[in-house]
Amino acid sequence: MRRVICTALGPLDDLVVEDGPDPEPRPGGVVVAVEAAGVNFVDALFVQGRYQIKPPVPFTPGMEVAGTIAAIGDGVEGWRVGDRVMAMVGLGGYTDRIALPALALVRVPDVLALPTAAAFIQSYCTALFALTRRTQVGVGETVLVLGAGGGVGQAAIDVATALGARVIAAASTEEKRAAATALGADAVIDYGAADLKTTVRELTEGGADIVIDPVGGPHADAALRALRRFGRYLVIGFAAGPIPTIPLNQVLLNNRTVLGVDWGAWTMADPGGQRDLLAELLRMVERGDLTPPAPDTRPLDEVAAALTDLLERRVTGKLVLTP
Ligand SMILES: NC(=O)c1ccc[n+]([C@@H]2O[C@H](COP(=O)([O-])OP(=O)(O)OC[C@H]3O[C@@H](n4cnc5c(N)ncnc54)[C@H](OP(=O)(O)O)[C@@H]3O)[C@@H](O)[C@H]2O)c1
Repeated sequence: MRRVICTALGPLDDLVVEDGPDPEPRPGGVVVAVEAAGVNFVDALFVQGRYQIKPPVPFTPGMEVAGTIAAIGDGVEGWRVGDRVMAMVGLGGYTDRIALPALALVRVPDVLALPTAAAFIQSYCTALFALTRRTQVGVGETVLVLGAGGGVGQAAIDVATALGARVIAAASTEEKRAAATALGADAVIDYGAADLKTTVRELTEGGADIVIDPVGGPHADAALRALRRFGRYLVIGFAAGPIPTIPLNQVLLNNRTVLGVDWGAWTMADPGGQRDLLAELLRMVERGDLTPPAPDTRPLDEVAAALTDLLERRVTGKLVLTP
């Protein structure tokens, strides 16, 4: 097997790619030949030691994979060699072969290519969890998506549109805004240049109903003020770095609500709820209600460059490593 190893928390350039012994399936488990491993923002934070959880080194980063079953252990039923599967693995995904418990496997629908499947679970589950479990987006409501060219942002556009909402997408580059329009956004804003609050209010005659915020940083204050009465602000992440402080009077005014979204913690507390959430998403994919964009692909050996590009905002949509 070939895999990425983090030997010490720190610079992304210190990651090494090395060969190791092929894993064997454990009882109740399988070995998956990984065709693509999703690259997520959190993977970089893990490697740099900037995440709240610090894994003991050495470890292989990578939290989601898709591929085909290469070998099956004792006591596994319902799966065959060659089946197309996807899985959230926590750590260990940046490899060409991974041993997994059969219980972790999710069948990939025929309509989903394996690289797209490898980039799907985290972003799309977060978007659907936010828009249907933390609040309930209504048909015809307006959703303002910040970081709309990123993984969570693109998934939020796709999911919100599928649920009948109108989407305003805010992103920093023409390429990211064009991708948002292609995914179904009704309007786009260059939030580096435009006054976010004023532009959203003009586009909506009074404000957005929901803000999806995976970015934080300098746009949070204006986005909160862009909410109309009974508006909901969904706090998803802080890709920009600094954690914004919000003026509570802006929550009181217009009866707004600020909601935390911690999809990862919820999946641990409610695995059954997570299974239902993912099954709902895959039904939406099979019906053609969702159109997850194909990710850009990079070879496993370019892991450091891929993570650096993501952290430096050069990626539109998702990236996967193809071992
Ligand atoms: N709460 C949850 O359950 C949950 C689940 C998944 C992810 N997250 C978090 O959500 C955040 C976004 O994840 P993602 O997968 O969408 O990441 P991503 O694909 O890298 O997108 C993040 C977007 O943030 C914007 N951004 C603004 N300033 C940035 C900066 N200084 N550095 C990097 N990006 C910056 C970029 O858009 P522009 O260039 O257009 O500004 C970028 O496209 C991360 O913090 C992640 O940990 C949280």
